[in-house]
Amino acid sequence: MDDMYREVILDHYKNPRNFGTLDPADISYEDDNPLCGDRIRIDLRLDENQRVKEVAFSGHGCAISQASASMLTEEILGKTLDEIRHIGKEQVLELLGIELGPVRLKCALLSLKVLKAGAYGLKEED
Ligand code: FES
Repeated sequence: MDDMYREVILDHYKNPRNFGTLDPADISYEDDNPLCGDRIRIDLRLDENQRVKEVAFSGHGCAISQASASMLTEEILGKTLDEIRHIGKEQVLELLGIELGPVRLKCALLSLKVLKAGAYGLKEED
């Protein structure tokens, strides 16, 4: 694992950007990583052009899941929902900058799964 990336990940884990909730939010979605049960919630507020003007995430999980959520929230500010729907997992992995095995991949992509579900307008099941 590259030390520089490891440091960036730890920094996001210890000092998560945009951590919290937005109430009210235009879009909220929450889901878990079925392998471990860790959950992430993402709230979005959109401007009049349907671009993300505020974003917050909450929940808990390992360093990789929290760091990727933190990085992703920074990445999507100003993006449209359509642009969010087109974010690929490669982009998230690029932000993290480390090689991940299949279990850690689920951790890394949890926030993207939540974000995309929200952008596609899915509603949480009660
Ligand atoms: Fe649960 Fe990583 S161990 S999200």
